[in-house]
Amino acid sequence: MKHELIKLADIPETGSVIVPFFGRELQVYRIDGQPRAVANTCLHLGGPLECRDGRLTCPWHGASFDMASGEKLSGPGPQGARLMRLPTVADGDALFYVWGN
Ligand code: FES
Repeated sequence: MKHELIKLADIPETGSVIVPFFGRELQVYRIDGQPRAVANTCLHLGGPLECRDGRLTCPWHGASFDMASGEKLSGPGPQGARLMRLPTVADGDALFYVWGN
């Protein structure tokens, strides 16, 4: 099954865009031009993330995460943890969340 997240044209070339996702939020952005979607949830205590200086950073206590790997770069939170990346596929003019295929 699949669920449309966003039109491809609405994903910025730099930075990120927040997309609603079944009552939660995703951060959607491009890595080397390819769309990527991760949960907009800090791995420390669940704060929201902001795209700043090429990283996703949590304003609550300052944790920051690599946008490509999802790995925590600095700040509090579990060692070695990664942001939750969603399986997606670009189809036609949109990006879809896919599951159960
Ligand atoms: S909740 Fe994100 S750094 Fe604490």
